Amino acid sequence: MDQPLTDERRVFPGPVETSRALAGRLGELAHAAVRGRGRFALALSGGSTPVGLYGLLAGEYAPRIPWGKVEVGFVDERAVAPDDPRSNFGLVRRTLLEPLERPLARVERIEGELRPLEVARDRYERTLREMFETSSGAPEAPPSFDAVLLGVGADGHTASLFPGAGTLSESSRWVTVERQPALDPRVERITLTLPALATSRRVIFLVLGESKRPTVERLFRDPHRGTPEGELPAARVRAREGVEWYLDAAAAPETSRRGRK
Ligand code: 6PG
Repeated sequence: MDQPLTDERRVFPGPVETSRALAGRLGELAHAAVRGRGRFALALSGGSTPVGLYGLLAGEYAPRIPWGKVEVGFVDERAVAPDDPRSNFGLVRRTLLEPLERPLARVERIEGELRPLEVARDRYERTLREMFETSSGAPEAPPSFDAVLLGVGADGHTASLFPGAGTLSESSRWVTVERQPALDPRVERITLTLPALATSRRVIFLVLGESKRPTVERLFRDPHRGTPEGELPAARVRAREGVEWYLDAAAAPETSRRGRK
């Protein structure tokens, strides 16, 4: 147990090619999930990296996704209202949901405006329990998103799981509160935990730009990547069916750019 899972790295010349490849991949995964289980449950991240991807999904790639069977959840949220420019839901609404103009089966946001934040945490956890209840109604059914889209910060954080933070040792909750995020925007956050990410079928990291390369290098050098002993938070992420990395050449370490898997 706790063996690092093999992961797949895909490197493309620039951010647009990378985002296009990932939009196509999400289409494949969505159709496979709908064929197998009747729906595609997708968790989305905020930040600046996925904006191009969301635009493609809302436009050119929209016909390739069975939107009526797509259920969207969120990886994390900032403690702000949905119309605040820092809101992850707000970003997804502006860049994907509104321009798409098609109904989805379900969109479940994290209510970052609620106080205390524990109320938002508990409400989102309840939503996930209901969303991922097994047919037998087992209350402890794990959150099993078909795909979770993650970004990586320059400090190696992912979701709102920051290096050295107490949130990293959360072992039972699916959702937790981060009071002091180490990077901007320094507003409190609500985030999926490592155990909640680990029960998803597939995690896909999208990392673009030269500023992330030293972090990606550090992640790929980590012999414990994909286990709880991984050095940086992003290195501790696992998924039941594998982790995929979509990188542009600027973000990819030399070895990956030469096509090494
Ligand atoms: C958030 C994100 C976060 C993000 C990374 C990378 O709420 O900020 O979910 O985990 O993916 O910080 O952010 P950038 O894409 O802006 O570099």
